[in-house]
Amino acid sequence: MCRPTYYQVEYQINPWMKVGSVDQTIALQQWQKLVRLYQSLGAKVDIIDQQPGSPDMVFAADQAIVCGKSRLLLSSFRYQERRAETVYYQAWYAQHGYDIITLPPDIYLEGGGETQTWRNYLFIGTGFRASKSIARVIQQLIDKEVMSLELVDDRFYHLDTCLFVLDDQTVFYYPPAFSKNSVTTLKQLVPQLIEFNLEDVLQFAPNSVVVDSTVVIQTGNEAFANAVLGLGYTPRFIDVGEFIKAGGGAHCLTGQL
Ligand code: ARG
Repeated sequence: MCRPTYYQVEYQINPWMKVGSVDQTIALQQWQKLVRLYQSLGAKVDIIDQQPGSPDMVFAADQAIVCGKSRLLLSSFRYQERRAETVYYQAWYAQHGYDIITLPPDIYLEGGGETQTWRNYLFIGTGFRASKSIARVIQQLIDKEVMSLELVDDRFYHLDTCLFVLDDQTVFYYPPAFSKNSVTTLKQLVPQLIEFNLEDVLQFAPNSVVVDSTVVIQTGNEAFANAVLGLGYTPRFIDVGEFIKAGGGAHCLTGQL
């Protein structure tokens, strides 16, 4: 996770972003609470320092995906505004013993923000950030079946804003965020596919994080919390509202290694 020392909305690359809207003191407090919650659940949290000029560096999910025990595929951001982040994260990953694979030029992928692992599949959300050809590229690097899901609503520009993997049986998703073909694909594949409604996705319910049998959920998502409770998980609320002002929630703030 990345301590939000220089976090602010300084540009607009998704419809959530309103320049200058962040209260930095509250943002830091919210982030510290999220770190403490993960630690209380037994997760080990490593912290990277934010660098000036990269306000979205706080979204630690986005800079790489795990491709093996200690191998990472480094992201390549669609927008110039985020490209420096990969340099800082690359240095951190290298110092911590990861082998780093890089993408060919002009191919974009934004890490854990737009990929989700489910069973032996790697889902990738394409349409806004990742390149259309990304599935082919990743398939050669990863021992999973790579499956592209086409995103069609720019409010849900990353997969983790509209799809949530609970476990091997259950995936939640917001159907209007996906093309018709992708909805069909998910329906054929996932035994228990549950729909979010618009209210859930506007409150970042899909941006939840599973830690063992606990699900860390953005405050306000009562219906979703009840649903996961009914499936045998313990919901824990966290408010990261200052980060939603940049289009990211708990899942985006968390690079899961
Ligand atoms: N402002 C950032 C962007 O648009 C937010 C990224 C949120 N990350 C995520 N995994 N959805 O790139």
